[in-house]
Amino acid sequence: MQWGSATLAFYGIGAAAVATSVAALRKRLELSQAKHPSLSGHARIARRLARFVPFYEYDAERFFCSDGAPHDIAARRRVGFNRLSQAYRTRFAETIRASAEAAESLSDLQFTAAYRVPFQYRRLVRAHLPSASFVQASDGVTLTDLDGNRCYDLTGSYGVNLLGYDFYKDTIERGAARVRGLGPVLGSYHPLLAENAKMLKEISGLDEISFHMSGTEAVMQAVRLARYHTGRAHVVRFCGAYHGWWDDVQPGVGNPTTARQTYTLTEMSERALRVLRKRRNIACVLVNPLQALHPNLNPPSDSALINSGRSAHFDKTSYGKWLKELRAVCSARNIVLIFDEVFVGFRLAKGGAQEYFGVRADMVTYGKTLGGGLPVGVVCGHHDLMKRYHDDRPADICLARGTFNSHPYVMAAMNEFLHALKTPQIDTLYRDLDAVWNARADMLNARLATADLPVRVVNLSSIWTVCYTRPSRYNWMLQYYLRAEGLLLSWIGTGRLIFSLNYTDADFAAVVDRFLAAASAMQRYGWWWHNPALTDRAIKRTVLKEIIAERWARMRRAVFDDEQRPA
Ligand SMILES: Cc1ncc(COP(=O)(O)O)c(C=O)c1O
Repeated sequence: MQWGSATLAFYGIGAAAVATSVAALRKRLELSQAKHPSLSGHARIARRLARFVPFYEYDAERFFCSDGAPHDIAARRRVGFNRLSQAYRTRFAETIRASAEAAESLSDLQFTAAYRVPFQYRRLVRAHLPSASFVQASDGVTLTDLDGNRCYDLTGSYGVNLLGYDFYKDTIERGAARVRGLGPVLGSYHPLLAENAKMLKEISGLDEISFHMSGTEAVMQAVRLARYHTGRAHVVRFCGAYHGWWDDVQPGVGNPTTARQTYTLTEMSERALRVLRKRRNIACVLVNPLQALHPNLNPPSDSALINSGRSAHFDKTSYGKWLKELRAVCSARNIVLIFDEVFVGFRLAKGGAQEYFGVRADMVTYGKTLGGGLPVGVVCGHHDLMKRYHDDRPADICLARGTFNSHPYVMAAMNEFLHALKTPQIDTLYRDLDAVWNARADMLNARLATADLPVRVVNLSSIWTVCYTRPSRYNWMLQYYLRAEGLLLSWIGTGRLIFSLNYTDADFAAVVDRFLAAASAMQRYGWWWHNPALTDRAIKRTVLKEIIAERWARMRRAVFDDEQRPA
């Protein structure tokens, strides 16, 4: 009998262990299924593969015919390239000289200069179309470089420039005048800080505010608080979404360590919701509403433009529906829903993405434009989530500091910005915002279609991305033609054009003319030559073969060198 119960107990434990393992296995499987099939959905594999990709480059001949273009087309491209290079060197002479000199000591400049085009073309592009990264003045919607060239600004200063540079010059100046008496005193606060908090509570609909120095830090703090209050460790972010460069929210290529407490799930997916419903270790979900323009895709940089595979499509209704579903699951599971509005806050609507999509978050992060032109990050949240200590456990705190967190000059510029939002002039800029920018995108697309140019733009209000309609290996060249036509892009190139809301119809018409001129030059010089066999998949396959061949050649060289080495 005793043996019987022992056996029973043994079987019982065994059965329980099997059941637990099966349940764990099922959960693991559900997690795998909720990952996006792309490499950006698999951070660890992506990082490993990134290390596998060897550098190689095209020589001066292959540079012009890497898509198998015939001799005459390659020759035409070469002529176009040399002319463009000549135009750059004459027009941007001083700006290029200053950029090259500064790059020697500026790691950021070296990095951005290296990552403008696919690496196979990098050396020749840098040699002939060097970076011209300095500007000396802004005025209206234009920037002036060191050679005195005025360019239309499509960089939007990474999204900060929402209301026009002149607006921010004023907010900074007026703000500085208001806090001059106090100066850069930290630790104690200027009264404007309290007023800002009040206005931000109204805008966000949330109870409490904390100030930080950058969007990255605001996100760090929001996640830290979510972990503290839920007692759970894991963060869910969605594939492709950028939330700053802090390790936990940037788990893929670019982060040398492994983010062990981050789940990167597929956005707009029932499978992701299932994971949120089942797992008990999830503290928060981070949403970057900018991804509505291209869910699950990485920020579209021209250095990744190896073919015409870049895609974008904005559907406000479906994205809004997704956010509502997410909201419901987070509420049911006590998961903190964080909208990271560092980029889109104030750009889509005065009340940000919450207002625009009609969904409320538990916490919202803001930054960029909210600083009135100065650096800032802000977290808004429910009182019970923002609290940094427990009344009944005095030693259990959630620390957040930062020397410059509430700098009087930043608070003053922010105060000017927030007050300006209430003025009739700024109100006019927000009126029919989407209608205005959609009509402008339609207008540019109609002109491109009429001219039979293989380029289209897709937009989320005033944030645009350029897509290419015919397979090509040379789309990245467009950024250089645009610059030559006086359109200034950020270093990620045609992936993101950001307009400030003070663009008039006349300004925009000038941009359209220049855009058309740049794209026509691309066409004229054969960069968009097309062979029907050249599909995007075929291009990808070619590049993959080149990578493998290079890797193989290196391995063989290494073995050979090893053999030659004296024992
Ligand atoms: C959505 C989002 N979150 C966070 C950040 C990081 O902000 P910052 O560059 O101020 O650190 C960015 C920056 O682009 C962003 O777009």
